[in-house]
Amino acid sequence: MTNSTDPVLDASGHSTSAPDAEALLDPFAVLSGEVVLVTGGRQGIGEAVRDAFLAHGARVVAADLAWEDPIPVRDEAGYWRVHVDVSDEQSVDGLVSAVEADSGLGTVGVLVNCAGTSTMSRVVDTSVYDWQIDQDVNARGSFVVARAVARGLEAVGRPGRIILIASQAAKNGYRCMGAYVASKHAVLGLTKTLALEEAPFGITVNAVCPGIIETAMKRRERVEGGALRGMSVEEIEAEDNSQVPLGRTGTPQDVAGVALFLASSLGSYLTGQGINVTGGMTMQ
Ligand SMILES: NC(=O)c1ccc[n+]([C@@H]2O[C@H](COP(=O)([O-])OP(=O)(O)OC[C@H]3O[C@@H](n4cnc5c(N)ncnc54)[C@H](O)[C@@H]3O)[C@@H](O)[C@H]2O)c1
Repeated sequence: MTNSTDPVLDASGHSTSAPDAEALLDPFAVLSGEVVLVTGGRQGIGEAVRDAFLAHGARVVAADLAWEDPIPVRDEAGYWRVHVDVSDEQSVDGLVSAVEADSGLGTVGVLVNCAGTSTMSRVVDTSVYDWQIDQDVNARGSFVVARAVARGLEAVGRPGRIILIASQAAKNGYRCMGAYVASKHAVLGLTKTLALEEAPFGITVNAVCPGIIETAMKRRERVEGGALRGMSVEEIEAEDNSQVPLGRTGTPQDVAGVALFLASSLGSYLTGQGINVTGGMTMQ
């Protein structure tokens, strides 16, 4: 257990103590050289998060189901890419030890868990199989990835940041998305509990709760949701836009900015939060 007179400092400058005025002049300096693991880092929100941290000098490991590399390989863009299936405990533990023990990159100091999936159907029409897909990837995936990173940080006794991409579906119900909504509520519950347990180690744990973000997942959901509700994609899109007080749907960069904020010196005093990035659509 540390206190403000005895801060835990790590190589990249993350600390358990309050940021001083200098840290606020360059709040992203702590990210330079930091090892940042981004799951789901191939496309969508994960791609934007990956590129945002890369631009701030972090050593970014982007892990994704769609990549085949069994060990981290340096991409020409500058990040390391590697295969992972977040729903598979062995795949996740193998990835984290490949990064921390074998690759020479070192301890993962920041996790942004973006990997996720969604099935769509009314609850009465949902099979146990489809229900389980969302629980395995979103709920269990968040758990095993956060657990592996927290274990690594505890083992070396340094602070860090764990950021889980949940959803406003962690706070509200949504038609035809019962399995997804339940899985994202689980992510927020995990966030709150892990935040309590990791606070003594100087590790903050927060969830980001995006609203309607323009990605491949959202475009697929408009097609499937439209079919289930007897609406065209254009009608669903118009409904989406009409629900957002700020008058536009979100971009992956809207979400990446909040992940950067949480990992920077600006985010030092937040833990256990579910931060809405919804253009005002969700306010609780
Ligand atoms: N797009 C939205 O409107 C929205 C809103 C709220 C929350 N989210 C959440 O944001 C996250 C990213 O969503 P997105 O819209 O960018 O989706 P996306 O489908 O565009 O990208 C998801 C990425 O995760 C990867 N992935 C899927 N399953 C995986 C697994 N088992 N292991 C490793 N990687 C896996 C995919 O290959 C893909 O690259 C998800 O958790 C999603 O639930 C999205």
